[in-house]
Amino acid sequence: MGYTVLLILHLLGATIWVGGHLVLLFTIVPGALAARDVERIRSFEHGYERIGIPALIVQVITGLLLAHRFVPGVWEAFTFADRLHTLVAVKLLLLLATAVVGAHARLWIIPRLNADRLPGLAVHVALVTTLAVALLVCGALVRG
Ligand code: HEM
Repeated sequence: MGYTVLLILHLLGATIWVGGHLVLLFTIVPGALAARDVERIRSFEHGYERIGIPALIVQVITGLLLAHRFVPGVWEAFTFADRLHTLVAVKLLLLLATAVVGAHARLWIIPRLNADRLPGLAVHVALVTTLAVALLVCGALVRG
């Protein structure tokens, strides 16, 4: 796949992943907390999941292919040999953290969600959103 196509898919995935989490954190979560209404989270989650998860999968595939151009073999990134190796390694670590925090929220917190547990979910959403923005910033730093 050509470089430009990969980059476009990576940017499209980033808009969905980062944008979706910013909307969740700054509009849906505060509304749900104020109204102590779990359904607001559930209905957003239900709709967003359908494009959010495919977007994250696209990020992983296109990210690895893009990273391979800078750091052949990708695992070499963990030698932290120079700035590019370090940025790719940091992106992979941020991805791992996203998977752990996201899986914990999706498999543990959301199935047992009630009004008292909303603040715990809010912390998770804030964490995943921070990780998403950090992934975007590290991506921009590759060329910047
Ligand atoms: C949700 C996850 C991710 C988000 C939101 C994200 C976001 C971004 C953004 C916004 C850019 C800037 C593109 C540009 O300069 O035009 C970028 C670049 C890049 N990303 Fe990601 N990324 C994610 C995951 C990954 C993963 C898992 C990898 C694999 C190591 C990766 C590797 C790269 C590389 C190598 C670039 C530089 C591309 C280039 O400038 O040619 N990304 N990313």
